[in-house]
Amino acid sequence: MKSPRAAWNAPILLLGSRGQLGRELAAVLPALGNVVACDRAALDLADPAMISKVVRDVAPRLIVNAAAYTAVDRAETEQQAAFAINGRAPGVLAEEAKRADAVLVHYSTDYVFDGARRTPYDEAAPTHPLSVYGASKLEGEQAIAASGALALTLRTSWVYARHGQNFLVTMQKLADSRKEIRVVDDQTGVPNWTRALAEATARLLAHGKSYVAERAGLYHLSAGGQATWCEFAQAILRDRTGVRVTPIPTREYPTAAARPPYGVLDATRFARTFGFALPEWQTLLQRCLQADEEPPTPAAVH
Ligand SMILES: NC(=O)c1ccc[n+]([C@@H]2O[C@H](COP(=O)([O-])OP(=O)(O)OC[C@H]3O[C@@H](n4cnc5c(N)ncnc54)[C@H](OP(=O)(O)O)[C@@H]3O)[C@@H](O)[C@H]2O)c1
Repeated sequence: MKSPRAAWNAPILLLGSRGQLGRELAAVLPALGNVVACDRAALDLADPAMISKVVRDVAPRLIVNAAAYTAVDRAETEQQAAFAINGRAPGVLAEEAKRADAVLVHYSTDYVFDGARRTPYDEAAPTHPLSVYGASKLEGEQAIAASGALALTLRTSWVYARHGQNFLVTMQKLADSRKEIRVVDDQTGVPNWTRALAEATARLLAHGKSYVAERAGLYHLSAGGQATWCEFAQAILRDRTGVRVTPIPTREYPTAAARPPYGVLDATRFARTFGFALPEWQTLLQRCLQADEEPPTPAAVH
């Protein structure tokens, strides 16, 4: 492996630097090269002309896109925004990456599947999203693949951090004020800590451009094991006394967008290609709960 700092000797363009995953990437990518971090104000993915302008101005060798329209329920009524940001923008980014001779790293979701299976989904499994969010993310994946750009599309699931809006933060807040929390117990997936996802991304990128380019494609990046939301909540609140987590069926917690009842991603292809796998989700949850500080929200430097 090259010395990490020499891995990318032209700018690394990071998008979505204030998001849950983006903040963690902003903390680890500087070890690989000079990072130009953009939040929504610096680059609005809904504006294709702005995407082209920023990529051409920065002239990166690597683009890491952690930005997305992630409001799964709101997407049902904001289809245009969801498809613009999750569907079209990744295609524009990919075209610009190709033009700049850059590698694109992009993230997608288990919500591209309908969850009708009961065995983990590999990359070849047929997609069938149940929600606008899932359909918009699938469109983004397909636009990247169709562009012919050198790209890694990393599907993951149930993303959490100690910051931002996510299930872990919600459970911890609810536990401060309630004696009982009712949580869905008939949807199964894998929780994934943003720091582990960011570190795994940086670890493979540390090999440099030709290594990544030779391995371009679609991968499932996920911790091991599986859980229901209720089991995840019980693990988060394991050390909190005085609060009971009660399992309920999905029909007792209706949401605007349908979720796949089963979204476990099989990460075998990732492990075989890059030579490492993420630990079990319980191990990562413990590390997250014990971690000292979350990374600060980076200032956008573009
Ligand atoms: N969260 C999950 O459970 C989950 C599960 C599977 C896959 N993923 C995927 O993982 C990736 C990272 O997700 P995350 O949880 O870190 O998301 P997040 O915390 O919601 O962050 C997304 C970031 O994208 C930014 N953004 C939204 N619209 C934008 C636009 N038009 N232009 C530029 N930036 C925009 C947001 O900015 P603002 O703060 O200004 O809105 C936010 O900083 C995404 O690709 C997501 O689809 C997430």
